[in-house]
Amino acid sequence: MLISGEPGIGKSRIAQTVAERISAEPHIRLRYFCSPHHQDSALYPSITQLARAAGFRRGDADEQRLAKLEWVLAQGTNDLSEAVPLLADLLSIPTGDRYSPLNLNPQKRKEKTLHAQLTQVEGLAARQPVLLVWEDVHWSDPTTREALDLLIDRAPALRVLVILTFRPEFRAALDRSAARNANEPQPLAAKATRRDDPEHDPRQAAPQGDRRPDRRSHRRGAVIHRKRD
Ligand SMILES: Nc1ncnc2c1ncn2[C@@H]1O[C@H](COP(=O)(O)OP(=O)(O)OP(=O)(O)O)[C@@H](O)[C@H]1O
Ligand SMILES: [Mg+2]
Repeated sequence: MLISGEPGIGKSRIAQTVAERISAEPHIRLRYFCSPHHQDSALYPSITQLARAAGFRRGDADEQRLAKLEWVLAQGTNDLSEAVPLLADLLSIPTGDRYSPLNLNPQKRKEKTLHAQLTQVEGLAARQPVLLVWEDVHWSDPTTREALDLLIDRAPALRVLVILTFRPEFRAALDRSAARNANEPQPLAAKATRRDDPEHDPRQAAPQGDRRPDRRSHRRGAVIHRKRD
């Protein structure tokens, strides 16, 4: 769901209202906030999301932060061996000798970190439907935009509802991402009913072959709220 509009027109309010309307449905909500002050800080919205979800406190020792990170990542995966060192590195938490050193070049580290984040969302979505609210993505850093591209590509096959809010100037960048996403959106509630179906594998819901990156299907794939004075 794309919510675009001028500053102060009510984008966040619409996102909040959507969240409230589905609050009775069992789901997990993840919120990401892009900031004008951190546009050059790679994955800043993901870092702050993880820190909030893990419940980091100002005086936490490194060991406490690592334990909290392990706990939060365990909500989405049973295999922490790769995700923890990658995301601990992202959050500048030393892992000591608890995990093997990463020994990755920067490009590979970035790829694996983005993959670990997506795997986390996939893991959560396999357990409960997930609402992801990405606020003010016009302020997103380039690596976050890569993460969003991956998420948007993958979202149709998962029990997720992704809401992006942004100012109009960001429209063109999102069009390029969303054009690749040719699947019908499904209401979170409708997806939630599948949770109880043991035959249903959410990862099979949208075979690659069904993706038709044409303009018509792109329009179906995005719900755009525009409010103008
Ligand atoms: N439908 C509404 N009725 C009453 N007040 C509203 C409504 N929509 C938005 N507002 C109020 O207008 C103000 C701006 O709304 P909001 O923060 O949602 O805008 P925004 O589009 O997200 O702005 P920004 O681009 O700066 O993030 C808020 O105080 C909000 O509560
Ligand atoms: Mg806002």
